[in-house]
Amino acid sequence: MRPVQAPYPTTRLRRPRQNQQIRDLVRQNTLTVKDLIWPVFVRSGEGIEEPLTSMPGVIRRSVDRIVHAAEEAADLGIPAICIFPYTRLEDRTEDCAGAWDPENNTNRAIRAIKAAVPDLLVMTDVALDTYNINGHDGFVEGEEIVNDRTVEALVKMTLAQADAGADIIGPSDMMDGRIGAMRAGLEAAGHQRVMILSYAAKYSSAFYGPFRDAVGASGALKGDKATYQMDPGNSDEALRLVERDLREGADMIMVKPGLPYLDICRRVKDAFGAPTFAYQVSGEYSMIKAAADNGWVDEDKTMMESLMAFKRAGCDGILTYFAPAAARLLQG
Ligand code: PBG
Repeated sequence: MRPVQAPYPTTRLRRPRQNQQIRDLVRQNTLTVKDLIWPVFVRSGEGIEEPLTSMPGVIRRSVDRIVHAAEEAADLGIPAICIFPYTRLEDRTEDCAGAWDPENNTNRAIRAIKAAVPDLLVMTDVALDTYNINGHDGFVEGEEIVNDRTVEALVKMTLAQADAGADIIGPSDMMDGRIGAMRAGLEAAGHQRVMILSYAAKYSSAFYGPFRDAVGASGALKGDKATYQMDPGNSDEALRLVERDLREGADMIMVKPGLPYLDICRRVKDAFGAPTFAYQVSGEYSMIKAAADNGWVDEDKTMMESLMAFKRAGCDGILTYFAPAAARLLQG
């Protein structure tokens, strides 16, 4: 597309910027509360709301308190919540069996939320890092993060979440072949309606730092995730990954992190036109929070501008820890 315009002064591009009414009228992109998915952290215990120092304003909640968060999300009109479990180092194992335990905190939280707020969509996380003794998303054998044995475990994890009532499965592991295996597993188990939002283009990123604290993986993680997550220097590879996941049965796809990868969001949306999400990750959130807490930027305005950027880049929705705060602003 090439915009056509007369030379100055016939064209004055400031004309349609002269007041709020005309700016509202010509604005191309809008952000609404219906674009938001709220990631929340669940832990064991009861009546617990534990603030996270590396993510100011974010709270780890026991299952009973997650239900309060879900009710809050529904009241604010947020369509979906995404659950991440916190596991203490001493509860982590090499076989990651907690990941597919029907009674793990994630699955208990799914059932509790679905019982209390049935219309709120519940998304999950599928990866082993929140249960793994070594903090990796897959099984570790020697020096290697093994692929195929991990995929089998991820399918078990997926089915346990679907059985608990999850609406949207969120594989964040970046193993090869997992989407096809999960889709086949879900179909075979009668979970035809369960959706998959694939973390298709997920980069090996330092912006995940605060999240790893939040789920208890920081102390556990040995090495980095560069053999399965993407190299930040690549962009064509993102298109290959997204195409692969769509062909394997992903209903929706995600680019992660968000703001540093808006070019990828745009390319992916233009290339495939699939429902496209970005994850504004923990480090992005905490950077804005830290700057705002220091009085260096205006928190509300920076938050809203950062979220609008995703819409401009072609995203249909955003996973963001700002979801309730943004929803409150959007609802006036
Ligand atoms: C791990 C997972 C990560 C995030 C979501 N799922 C971290 C990682 O890959 O190490 C990051 C989310 C965030 O930083 O907010 N499967």
